[in-house]
Amino acid sequence: MTDCYQLIRGLRAIRDYEHRPLHPEDLDAILEAARWTGSSKNRQDWSFHVVEDPERLQGLAAHGDFTQPVRDSAATIVLVKEPGGNMFDIGRAAQNIMLAARTRGVASCPVTLHRSDDARSFLGLSSDQVAMYAVALGYATPGAQPRSYGGRKDASQVIRSERT
Ligand SMILES: Cc1cc2nc3c(=O)[nH]c(=O)nc-3n(C[C@H](O)[C@H](O)[C@H](O)COP(=O)(O)O)c2cc1C
Repeated sequence: MTDCYQLIRGLRAIRDYEHRPLHPEDLDAILEAARWTGSSKNRQDWSFHVVEDPERLQGLAAHGDFTQPVRDSAATIVLVKEPGGNMFDIGRAAQNIMLAARTRGVASCPVTLHRSDDARSFLGLSSDQVAMYAVALGYATPGAQPRSYGGRKDASQVIRSERT
């Protein structure tokens, strides 16, 4: 199995981060991976809003219900759906952010901004932009573990194959 496959297969949401900023090269590499994500008709109707200031991270976190990872993060990237964009593309970019982060030794957790209208105002965006999802980033604390229990559903529950 390739390292790349192991990276994809082993990716987990990690929510415990050290209190130190991201190296600019790490953040730049993560954003570059986001920017190069494929999108429907290659429209790239998205933008990536980076929040690093600790006070701004606290403020951003107020706009979702399970946003402790944002509060604790070194940086959080809000995936902004621009007019014409769609959530499939946003999801692809989010996963690329997480995978690229992992390659740089940066842990990550997807986060929902449940009150996305408030999040949009907080970020100074316009009414035709949507700020519903973000990815919290940081260097994992030693021993940090994923918090989801039970791993994944059995393959027999989720894969319907027409192979003979
Ligand atoms: C669309 C989406 C929204 C999520 N929102 C949150 C969230 O608001 N807060 C949070 O802590 N985790 C959030 N997560 C992370 C999930 O809880 C996590 O992907 C799931 O528990 C599996 O974690 P694992 O990969 O570590 O097993 C979200 C994940 C997705 C895909």
